[in-house]
Parts: sequence; structure tokens; C-alpha cells
Amino acid sequence: HPATLQETFKNDFYIGAAINVNQIKETDSLMAGLLKKEFNSITAENMMKSMHIHPAKDSFNFEIPDKFVELGQKNNMYIVGHTLVWHSQLSPWIEKIKDSTEMHHAIQSHINTIVGRYKGKINSWDVVNEALNEDGTLRNSVFLERLGENYLTTAFKLTAEADPDAELYYNDYNMCQPAKRDGAVKLVKKLQENGAKINGVGIQGHWNLNSPSLEEIEKSILAYSQLGVDVAITELDITVLPSPWDLQGADVNQNFEGNPKMNPYPDKLPDSIQDKLAKRYQDIFALFLKHKDKIKRVTFWGVNDAQSWKNDWPIKGRTDFPLLFDRNLKPKEAYKAIISLKEKN
Ligand code: G3I
Repeated sequence: HPATLQETFKNDFYIGAAINVNQIKETDSLMAGLLKKEFNSITAENMMKSMHIHPAKDSFNFEIPDKFVELGQKNNMYIVGHTLVWHSQLSPWIEKIKDSTEMHHAIQSHINTIVGRYKGKINSWDVVNEALNEDGTLRNSVFLERLGENYLTTAFKLTAEADPDAELYYNDYNMCQPAKRDGAVKLVKKLQENGAKINGVGIQGHWNLNSPSLEEIEKSILAYSQLGVDVAITELDITVLPSPWDLQGADVNQNFEGNPKMNPYPDKLPDSIQDKLAKRYQDIFALFLKHKDKIKRVTFWGVNDAQSWKNDWPIKGRTDFPLLFDRNLKPKEAYKAIISLKEKN
């Protein structure tokens, strides 16, 4: 029988997928079957974000997250919680806190309650997400404003106390750009100096057909692992669409709706682009294999193209093709290209 992703890379790294409520509910579907067969790790795409799991001070939504964890446990998967401290999708009640003591208590109750509930069940937490600006400085946020830069150390220490066995990650995008990479290295060093436990750095991996270069990706894998932590590729997807910001005349305030360049392949991906995507995925995985001793996990941000957030970003209704399985859950050329890397060995 043909090899699956998880079998193919079982001696190298975990192969994960981000899932949300639909994938959890559909227990008998094609999707559910594919998920169990191909992947040995899952990440909560949206359900554990502050605004969903902790919508008000004394109110938590655990129904869907509980099912997510059950699914992972039943299938012996490496389970990833996403994410504890993030400026975005933040509960309004936390956003409104003006006092530093109150903010500390909010983070403490958030982490203690959620990490405590899944102690020994969730293998890894994205403790802090996207704390850096593109120039490598700390992003201004309600956490930074109320608590100063020590909020990072606080978050990691609280998580380690709530579940000493969980692996703790710092996770961000553009982690292969030099300035941000330097910022991330500094951030991790600071945590280590402050005596906080950090097990790994998450390179999200929302990439395109050309960028970042393999060279920059490799530099980042090396720079982070030299800190003595694991590296994970946490949110991999490769868009085939033009960046809205690169389109002629497009700026952040423009209404992209109705710009045909925004959605060049509304029905089907041309074979030539399909091949480019396959080649790009193959090159990237060859690099991951080269550094498999440093890479703990490679997680795709979704299972198939229909499920990808990219279809709705930055406007609804783009048709993107960033993942390994198509809209009918059939493996794409990119899937075959990755598997073939190991068949050759
Ligand atoms: O579920 C509602 C639906 O009921 C409603 O009709 C619709 C109207 O817009 O919204 C739906 O919710 C959307 C949700 O995704 C589920 O699809 C939200 O608007 C939308 O903001 C949300 O986007 C998510 C985004 O994070 C913001 O939280 C994406 O799915 C998710 O893939 C994306 O993931 C982030 C990572 O957490 C961090 N790194 C970057 C990555 C990509 O942006």
C-alpha cells in the first residue's frame, strides 16, 4: 500500500495539521479518515484562542477543545495547544484591563485554568504568539503596555508551573527574515537568562512560491537550534496567489473586491503552477530532512485547500491552493513530490 505522510517521516519529525470544529465533528467522514491516516499531530486552529475559550472573566468554553484533545489522544497524536498569550483574537475583557496587577491575574487565571485542565494531555503549547515587530523589536500590545517586556517570562513560567511536562514554544511569522530572526534570538536568550523554560521556536511558515529563500530558511533553523531549543514548522502553507500588497497600485486601504488580479485561478490551478508548488514543497522538505535532527515537527495550517484560511485573506472568496490535499481531499502533486524524497533513499 502507498506510504502516508506520517509513515514516510516517522523517523524524522511529526507531521501535523491544524484543525477546527468541523474536522472534529465529522468523525466518520473522508476528512476524519484522512486526518488519522496521514497525520500524527494536531494543532487547534482557532478554538483555543482567548476570545473563544475564555470569552469572559469567569467563563470558559471547553466543549470543543475537550473534543479536540480526545481526538488526539484516541489516535495517539502529538497535541498542540494554540495559543495562550496573543494580542489578536483576544477576549474583550482582557483587552480592556488597565491595571497591571489585574492583567497579571488575568494571564495567571487564563494559563492556570486552561493548561491545568489539559495537564499531561496537551504535548506542546504555543505559549506566546507573534510578540515581535518586523524589525525585531517587541510589538506594542496590551500585555507589553501593562506588564512591560517581562510578560513573556511570566507567561512561560506560569505555563511551566501549570504543566511541567508540556513543551513550551515561542511562535511567530516572518521568522526567516534577518531582522525578525535576530529579534527572536534575543527574545529566546532573554527567556533563558531569566530562568524560564523554553523548549522550542515555532517558524510559522506562511510562505509563497519564491519567498523566503531556502538559504534564509536554513539560516533560521540553524540560528534557533543553536540556542539549544527545538525548531518546529508550525503553520506551513504555500500560497500560489499574488500578494495583495505586491499588486500594482494595491495598498492596505484599497478595497480588493473586484480586482481580478486578486483571484487569478477561481476554478482550477493551472498544471504549470501545480508543478511549481510541488517543486517548492519538495525543496523545502529536502531542507527539513537535512536538518531533521533539529526539527521536531512540521505542521500544515489545515488539511486541504478548501479548509485553508488563505481563501478568505485578505478578502473573502479567493481560491487558493496552498496545501497538500485538494478540494476533494485527493493528494496533489506536491504530496507525491514530498513522499518521493524518501522513496529515492
Ligand atoms: O466562524 C465564523 C463564521 O461563523 C462567520 O460567519 C465568519 C464571518 O467572517 O467568521 C468565521 O470566523 C472566522 C474564523 O477564522 C473561522 O473561519 C474569523 O472571522 C476569522 O478571523 C478567523 O481567522 C483565523 C485567524 O487566525 C484569526 O484568528 C484563521 O481561521 C486562522 O487560520 C488564523 O490562524 C493564524 C494563527 O492563529 C496565528 N498565525 C497566523 C495564522 C494565519 O492568520
